[in-house]
Amino acid sequence: RTIAIVGCPFSGGQGRLGVDEGPIHMVNAGLVQQLKGLGWEVEFDGHHQFEDISAQSDPPIGKLKNPRLVSKVTEAVATVVGGHAKKGHLPLTIGGDHSLAMGTVAGTLSKYPDACVIWVDAHADINTPETTESGNIHGMPVAFLASLTNSSSLGATAVGETQPFAWLDNVHLPPSRIAYIGLRDVDAGEKAILREHNIAAYSMHEVDRYGIGKVVEMAIDRVNPGRRAPIHLSFDVDALDPTVAPSTGTPVRGGLTFREGHYICERLFETGLVVAVDLMEVNPSLEDEESVQQTVAVGCSLVRAALGETLL
Ligand code: ARG
Ligand code: MN
Ligand code: MN
Ligand code: MN
Repeated sequence: RTIAIVGCPFSGGQGRLGVDEGPIHMVNAGLVQQLKGLGWEVEFDGHHQFEDISAQSDPPIGKLKNPRLVSKVTEAVATVVGGHAKKGHLPLTIGGDHSLAMGTVAGTLSKYPDACVIWVDAHADINTPETTESGNIHGMPVAFLASLTNSSSLGATAVGETQPFAWLDNVHLPPSRIAYIGLRDVDAGEKAILREHNIAAYSMHEVDRYGIGKVVEMAIDRVNPGRRAPIHLSFDVDALDPTVAPSTGTPVRGGLTFREGHYICERLFETGLVVAVDLMEVNPSLEDEESVQQTVAVGCSLVRAALGETLL
């Protein structure tokens, strides 16, 4: 089997520079060789080069920041990820900020329309253009994927301009096929959305209560009851506790331990159903050199765990 690494040096879905360097650091840390060491064929043709749209030509629409840029980049990512998936390859997308998952999940759905998503994150990333407080699109990808919002709710753009995110309007991930693990910083508007759509959400409270082993089984059963549907794993490194993964833009204390994070990846790989993996939000410009090295290393080891590395 072949893994296609899609390196996405992109930071436009949030405000902190440096997260675009995440994929470069992870590849430089030896990720390609590490995956080959697990027995995979690995395809990596360099990091994705995105079209540049200057900030002046991309003013906010409503509260949304960099809407044209994020729309263009994620559309390109959807095409690339979908292309690999259609060849039977397993796309591994390295971010970059989590807005990229609009593209990765859309790409997965183009090949596997019945796929479900396990979203491991401190945040639900399910704000709509109405509920967002920050205007950062990395806090909104799930709302667009699940059709809880669409391009027409952004507000008016210039006459003749294609509406940003119009390409996503016919992508639909049913809310019943999303499960979260690791949540602990969910905005008020997002809590209402999770409740209204009865979305499977296992916060750190559930991890403490039931243990990670039980939580992962419950999450799989909710979104994939027959355990036959393909699984897309979207892992935001900030799901881990900041003592484990310090170099990330929106750290939240009280997160997953090193082992809890790895256990999720190992167990999902064991199901044999994983068809795509994202590892997002590693920001090598935050915190000191040792923290960066630690975060990059943990990012690589989470990916290895999701792609078959075992302890024995
Ligand atoms: N909920 C906050 C927002 O909408 C934080 C989102 C953080 N997302 C992330 N992918 N790290 O701005
Ligand atoms: Mn390929
Ligand atoms: Mn997050
Ligand atoms: Mn996220």
